[in-house]
Amino acid sequence: MTIETTLVLVKPDGVRRGLAGEVVSRFERRGYDLRGARLLKISRALAAEHYAEHKGKPFYPDLVSFITSGPVLALAVRGENAILGIRSLMGATNPADSLPGTIRGDLATELAENIVHGSDSRASAKRELGLFFPDGLV
Ligand code: RTP
Ligand code: MG
Repeated sequence: MTIETTLVLVKPDGVRRGLAGEVVSRFERRGYDLRGARLLKISRALAAEHYAEHKGKPFYPDLVSFITSGPVLALAVRGENAILGIRSLMGATNPADSLPGTIRGDLATELAENIVHGSDSRASAKRELGLFFPDGLV
């Protein structure tokens, strides 16, 4: 058993489109546990920390503008191999490549507006959970 906790963001497009419940429901139905949830508007400073790995890339300015454009739902999600499992439920980064049955494959068409973020490794999960749930209770 490898129980992990990962950070998910329902991005501004997902919240704006009323898909937050749908995303949460898919995680719950799969069998993951919600350990934390927080609706917030991300500041530019938090966006810069969260997306530090992408700083300097051509799409970085648009990425920061987008993620700060409206409220996101930050979730701490726990379960067996949750980091990879959640990424698999999300589907490929570019919805053009996401398979039907995945969140992005069913609900999105654009790379920039792909509804969800999920931590991509144990190190990322630890770092990102610390950014969004700084009291450490998740
Ligand atoms: P995320 O971080 O949002 O969970 O997505 P990811 O790991 O699947 O993809 P990542 O490479 O971390 O990219 C972060 C977000 O940046 C946007 N992106 N745009 N224009 C481009 O070439 C490009 N590449 C990435 C996407 O919205 C992606 O989710
Ligand atoms: Mg990523």
